[in-house]
Amino acid sequence: MPKTESSAWLARDAAAVWHPFTQHSRWLDDEPTVVERAEGPWLYDIDGNKYLDGVSSLWVTTFGHREPAIDAAIRDQLGRLDHATFLGATHRPGIELAEELLATAPRGDRALGKVFYAGDGSSAVEAALKMAYQYSVQTGRAKPLFVRLAQAYHGDTLGSVSVGGIDLFHATYKPLLLKTVEAPSPADFDRRATGEAEAAAEAAAGLEKVMAEHGEEVCAIILEPMVQAAAGILTYDAAYLAAARRIADRHGALLICDEVAVGVGRTGRMWASEHAGIVPDLLIAAKGLTAGYLPLSAVLTTDEVYEAFLGAPAEARTFFHGHTYTANPLCAAAALANLRLMRERSLVEHAEKLGDRLGVLLAPLAEREAVTDIRRLGVMAAVDVADKGERAGVAVCRAAKKRGVWLRPLGNSVVLMPPLALRDEEAELLVGALDEAIAEVYA
Ligand SMILES: Cc1ncc(COP(=O)(O)O)c(C=O)c1O
Repeated sequence: MPKTESSAWLARDAAAVWHPFTQHSRWLDDEPTVVERAEGPWLYDIDGNKYLDGVSSLWVTTFGHREPAIDAAIRDQLGRLDHATFLGATHRPGIELAEELLATAPRGDRALGKVFYAGDGSSAVEAALKMAYQYSVQTGRAKPLFVRLAQAYHGDTLGSVSVGGIDLFHATYKPLLLKTVEAPSPADFDRRATGEAEAAAEAAAGLEKVMAEHGEEVCAIILEPMVQAAAGILTYDAAYLAAARRIADRHGALLICDEVAVGVGRTGRMWASEHAGIVPDLLIAAKGLTAGYLPLSAVLTTDEVYEAFLGAPAEARTFFHGHTYTANPLCAAAALANLRLMRERSLVEHAEKLGDRLGVLLAPLAEREAVTDIRRLGVMAAVDVADKGERAGVAVCRAAKKRGVWLRPLGNSVVLMPPLALRDEEAELLVGALDEAIAEVYA
C-alpha cells in the first residue's frame, strides 16, 4: 500500500472530525495512527504497519482484538436480535449477563444483587450518583452532598465531572456542578517517603475528618478502588479502601466503587475491591466489560439499595433514568461471551501472573535517571519520566511507536495497559520498546 494512504485520510480527518481530549491546533503534529484493522494485541495502520496495542485501545481489551469466540457470539446475536428496548421489555443476553455479572461480584459483609445497565463509564457514574441521592431521599432524608477524592476521574458528563478532581479537565465546569466535598487522595501523601501504609492512614484520617464535618449531608463517597487511573495510575494501599468502607458505614453514606478502569480483571482480581476484601453498595463496571468491543456499562447494587426504590407507582419511588440503548443485545452478548471466556480460560489468574512479569521487566527501568517513578497493580502500570520541556510523555510514546509499540501517556506518566491475555514475548517487546524509547528521548 502506498505510504501516502495515512496522510490522505488524516487530511480528510482534520477537515471533518473533532477528536476527544485533543488540541486540534496540534493534532497532525503528533502523526496520529489511522487504524485499519486489529487482531489479538496488534493494531495495523492503513499503511500496513503493525503496532502492539500497549494501552488496550484505551484500557478496554481483555483478550485482545477480534477474539474469535467473541466475534462469533456477536454474529450469533445479530442473527436473532439487533436491538430491543429494555423499557417494558427484556431479552436473554441482558438477563444472562446480569446473572453472570452478579456471580462474579465481590463477596463479603453485603451482597450485590441487582444490575442496572448504562452505556459507558460516565453514564454509569451518572446513574450511580442519582441512585445514591434518591436512595437517601427514600430512606429518610435528602442528602445532596457527594464526597470525592482529590485527583479523581470518573468521566466527562456533568455529574461525573462533579466528582472529579483533576483541575486541567474539570476546573472550567465548576459553576455547573453538583455539590461535593473533596477528601484527600492517598496519592497526596508521599508514599515513597513514608510507605504506602502511612499514606493510606493519612488519607483515611482526612476522609474521616471530612465525614465528621459533613457526614450528615453526604449520600455517598465515590472513589476509584486501588488505583486512581486517569490521574496517572496512582496506586494506593488496600487499607485505605477498607477504611473508606468503614467510614461510609459509620456515617450512613453509601460507598460507590468506580471500577470502570480497574475492574474486569485489570488489577489481577476480577474486581479491585477484592484487594481490600470489601463490597461497595454500588459497583460501576464498563471498559473491559465487553472485552473492548462495544459500549456497555453496569451499576451493580445491593438489594438494600434496590428495595428502597420499590413502592406503589403513585409513590414515585421509581428510578426514572435510562437510555435508549440500555442493555443493547449485541453489547450484552459481547460482554456475556467475554465473562464466560474469562472464566473458562482463567484470564484473571493469567492477568495476575502477567502483572508480576511486567513488574519484573519494568524494575530495571527504575535505574534510568529519566525515570522518576514506576507504579503498577496487576496489568496497569505507569512509568513517570522526568520533565523535558514540553510533553516528555508524548515524545517517549512517539519513540516507542517507531519500535512497533503503541502507547498513550497521561502527562509525563507513560501508561502500560496491554490486553490481559498478552503473552510473555509480547510483554518483553512492550517493555523493551519503552526502555529504548526513554533512552532515545533522554540521550
Ligand atoms: C475510573 C473511570 N471512571 C469513569 C470513566 C469514564 O468512562 P467512559 O470514558 O467510558 O465514559 C473512566 C474513563 O477512563 C475512568 O477511568
